[in-house]
Formats: sequence, structure tokens, C-alpha cells
Amino acid sequence: MCGIIGATGGDAVVETLLEGLRRLEYRGYDSAGVVLQGQGELWRARAARGTRSLEDLRRVVDGAPGPTAAGIGHTRWATHGGPTERNAHPHLDCTGRVAVVHNGIIENYRLLADKLAAGGHQFSSDTDTEVVAHLIEDELSGGVALADAVRATLRQVQGAFSLAVVCAGEPGTIVAARRVSPLVVGMAEAGEDGAAPAAYVASDIAAVLGHTRNLWALDDDQVVELRPQSMRVATLAGKEVEPVALQVDWDLEAAEKGGFDDYMSKEMHEQPRAVADTLLGRLLPAGTFALDELRIGPAQLAEVERVLVVACGSSHHAGLVAKYAFEHWARLPCEVDIASEFRYRDPVLDSRTLVVGISQSGETIDTLQALREARQWGAPVLVVANVVDSSMAREADGVLYTHAGPEVGVAATKTHLAQLAAMELLALYLAQIRGTLSPADARLLFADLSALPGLVGETLERDDAVAEVAARFTSTRDFFFLGRHVGLPVAMEGALKLKEIAYVRAEAYPAGELKHGPIALIEPGTVVLAVATRSPVWEKVMSNVAEVRSRGATVVLVANDGHEEAAAEADAVLWVPGTHPLFSPVVDVVPLQQFAYHTARAHGLDVDRPRNLAKTVTVE
Ligand code: F6R
Repeated sequence: MCGIIGATGGDAVVETLLEGLRRLEYRGYDSAGVVLQGQGELWRARAARGTRSLEDLRRVVDGAPGPTAAGIGHTRWATHGGPTERNAHPHLDCTGRVAVVHNGIIENYRLLADKLAAGGHQFSSDTDTEVVAHLIEDELSGGVALADAVRATLRQVQGAFSLAVVCAGEPGTIVAARRVSPLVVGMAEAGEDGAAPAAYVASDIAAVLGHTRNLWALDDDQVVELRPQSMRVATLAGKEVEPVALQVDWDLEAAEKGGFDDYMSKEMHEQPRAVADTLLGRLLPAGTFALDELRIGPAQLAEVERVLVVACGSSHHAGLVAKYAFEHWARLPCEVDIASEFRYRDPVLDSRTLVVGISQSGETIDTLQALREARQWGAPVLVVANVVDSSMAREADGVLYTHAGPEVGVAATKTHLAQLAAMELLALYLAQIRGTLSPADARLLFADLSALPGLVGETLERDDAVAEVAARFTSTRDFFFLGRHVGLPVAMEGALKLKEIAYVRAEAYPAGELKHGPIALIEPGTVVLAVATRSPVWEKVMSNVAEVRSRGATVVLVANDGHEEAAAEADAVLWVPGTHPLFSPVVDVVPLQQFAYHTARAHGLDVDRPRNLAKTVTVE
């Protein structure tokens, strides 16, 4: 997830770009950059100092040759290529006359880059984006207009993108387009104060709302040609279309949170995208799983005899889910350790144990130290991280990035779902290498995985129903969460969410373990949330639910749509759509996040900044 912006006309293009980038920083801040255009040549400035990138960029831009008629800008969340200045956008073609900013992933960039290199193009970054600039360069050499060159280029590109392009030959023109990644267009008429008319394009409304409320959303595969007083939208085939006008009644602060009250709910609503982006480019049409960026080759992975996962908190819960996937599909024994405990036992590790660290931040000291320990024992270490080039990603032998974009809320939501998706992919990839997965099964699982973003979206839409259930329990101070099989880590994650943002005691138990002691705590009025979606252990879960119900507990179930048999045993149900049982945590955890969210809000708490917690924990 990156942020892009473009502005042409008006009286303050540079300030508009910089201010817009500041508002887009929530989408990534690994680097920032702009290309400015006066009457012809392009002038580029970039900076890559993480959270300080924009400050640095502002200093460089102060030295720009003026005046500026148009410009494009970018704030980056690194995916392909490290977070360096070399990889910072905008990217240029060989001549320096075409500049591109891009959000998304060009899936076929390797193929395109090879062809372009064979045709003599010189690359100056490690990004997937740069191919777009060179492809446009080739198209422009045929003497066509920029918009036509962009259309011809995008017909060759696979993947997701929102992008904006300027070229030296067409001063004051910005061409922008999108597929999957969002893009809005704005037009400002001449102001009463004499301000010149202007046109804008950006990844989201917040970046341009300060300038205009005349906004439109582009649809997939639409290309817009912008000049200060004109906007023309057409399909990739060049057919003119009417864009969808946006009704915006947010103020700027609401716009930064995408119109949500807080980052947590915004990020929960970004979960379908986070899962889709994490799967993007990794499911090949032939029914194979492709993780070629891992840095640990298939030959070494084929030698692995055992997997050990280390992680903390929500990341640990993602590991617990993955254990079932490693064992079921890849037939690899798997253990999951809490990272802070791992180092203080005498682990038995060797070069055939694949150690997988899961960490959103890639900086959590407990996990980092555990992975260092594992490397000392000669084990290959693979990290599943969301932050590119974080300490863990740099030190590990291999890395698999989740593509959830930056998470501002302290409680992990979208990054947790992205971790679950990434771990499922990893298990299936290992199964493919080890030959434990038939091509027919792979194709079925593939379809199930691809459907997950849609199912998560459907689940999120039921927020009001979850809020109603949560409202019945706002005075409950003590919850039990039960689950079995992959439902257990889901229950653990649900309990953690409730503890950390609503400050309510919540204990998660393997449902079958209750009768070995904790059931003594169940009395009339005790509230039990149980994960009871369809799975091979569904009947067993329901027997455990019957045990607590018969002792007077009030039971809330997470159950699959239409499963009336489950509903009959519950006082309330959080309904979710069904999927393959091993993928079900990706969907089932969502209503539990919502339950915690509504409980916290009912208590008047700040869900984005819960007390005593930090987003990244760098102390032991
Ligand atoms: C819970 C939460 C934490 C983190 C844990 C690990 O909502 O966010 O439990 O999951 O601190 O952090 P990372 O994944 O950055 O290593």
C-alpha cells in the first residue's frame, strides 16, 4: 500500500503535493518523492528516511526551479525493492522525460523487465513500477499522445495499480489510471479569490479534500487525462465513459480515517484488501503457489524435516493456526513457541528445522532474539513480516512479506489476517515442494483462498449485528472463549482483542480442556463465546458448549450461515460465511474483533491507543 497524488494548475502545486503526501503517510512512509514540471523538463526529488522522509523531501523541494505547472508525488510502503532512495518513486524512463508514481503490484514485471532490458532499456531501481515508465517510453516513441501510450502500456500489465504519469512533452497534463487499487479525481474551478482552476488525482479523498469537493472515483481499467480545466475518462480501449461522482460530507480529520471514527475500524475494513494483496501474485493460474521472493530456494526447503514457529501476541496466534496447515498439507511436524519463552529453553534445532518468525513490525525484541538464537543453532530462518527491511527481515535467511500496509491502531487486525493468509500460502508452497498436495487439491484450495477477501468483506458488513450482541454484554467483566482445532487460536485472538482494547478479563481455553478444571468456574450468568463453525470437530465443540450451558452459562457462538443446529444451542450467534475449515480463522476472527471493538467503544475507550501498550515492543 502506497499513496499517490497529482496536481495540475492552481496556485500552489508544490504545497498541494507535500500536504497531500502528509495526509497519505498512513499508507506508507518508507520514502517520499515528487516530480515537478514547469513548462517542459521534469525535476525530481526523493528522500528515504522512514518517518522523516517527508521532512527531508520538503527541504530538497525548497530548491526546485520554479514555477511549477503540474506535479506528481508518492509516499511508499516498500514491497518490491528495499526502502531506499533508489527505489523511491517517482520512477523515470531512460530519457528522464516520463515519470510514474504507482500504488499496487505489477505481477508480471519480471517478464516485462526482461523484455525491456533485451530492447536496451536501463533500469535504475529494483521496483516493479519502473517497467511502466519504460513501457510508456517505448509507446511514446511511436509519436502517440501520453494518454494513448499509458493505455497501450496498461494493456500489457497484470496485477493491481493506481498510477499517475507526467511527461516532458505534455506540460500541464497528468494521466492516471487504476485497477484494483483506489484512485479519486478532483476538479477545482477558479476561486473567488482569483485562484486558478486546478485538477487533482490521489489515492484517497483526504489528500485533496482541502482543495475541492468536486470528486469522482475511477473504476477498474479506466484512464483519466487531467488538465487544469478538463477531465476526460476513458477505458483502456479508449472509449469515453462517465466517472462516478462522489458525495463527500466528511471533514478532513474524518477523511484521514476514511470516514471511520478511528483507525481500528478503518483497518478492520481494509482486511479484504490486506488479504487480497498478500495473495496477489502468489497464486498462479496453473494452480501452483509461487513464493519466489523467499530467498530460501526450493531445494533447501525440500530438505526441511520440521517447522518451528516463534512469535508473540496476535502473531503467535497466526502461528498456532499455521501449525494445522503445515501438518495437514505439508506433512511436516510443527511446533509453535512464544518467542519470549523459546530462548530460555534448550531448543533442539538443526539445519533441517525451518524456523519461521512471524512479526508484523519485524522489530519485536523477543522474536528477534529468538530468531538470532535459532540461527546460532544452524537452522534456516524465515520471517513473515509486514514491514519491509525491518530488523528481522534483514537478518533472516528468507522473508515472506504480508502486504497489509501500515497499521496505525495498536491492536493488530488487518496485519493478523494478512499473516494468516501468508502462513497458509507458505504451508501450501511447502506441500507443493514436498509433493504432498495433489494438483487437483491445489486447484480447489486455490479457489477457496481466492474467495477469502470476499468472505471477509461479507463478514464485515454484519457489523451492526455484532454490535447488537456486544451491547447485551457491556457490563460483563469476565468472558470465557472456547475453541478446538483451528478454532482455538481464533478464540485466543478474540480474547486478546477484548483484553487489550476493552480491558475486560477474557480467558481462552481449548474447549475439551474445560472439564479438566476450569469448568468449576462456570456458574449461572458466566458468558462463554465459542468458535463453532463447521469443522471435523464441530460435534465435539458443541458437546463442550452443552456442558457449560447446562451449568447456566450464557453462550454466544461464532457459527456458519444457515447452521440452525448450532443456533439452537446458543443465546446469541455471530454468523459468518463458511469456507474450508483450515482457512476458517481468516473469517471467524472478524466478528470477535468487532465484538471487542464495540465493547471497548461502549466503555468509552480509545481503541487506537489502549493503555499500557505500544505498537512495537522493543524491550524484553
Ligand atoms: C495484539 C498485538 C500484539 C502483537 C505482538 C507482536 O493486537 O498487536 O500482541 O501481535 O506485540 O508484535 P509483532 O507482530 O510486531 O511482532
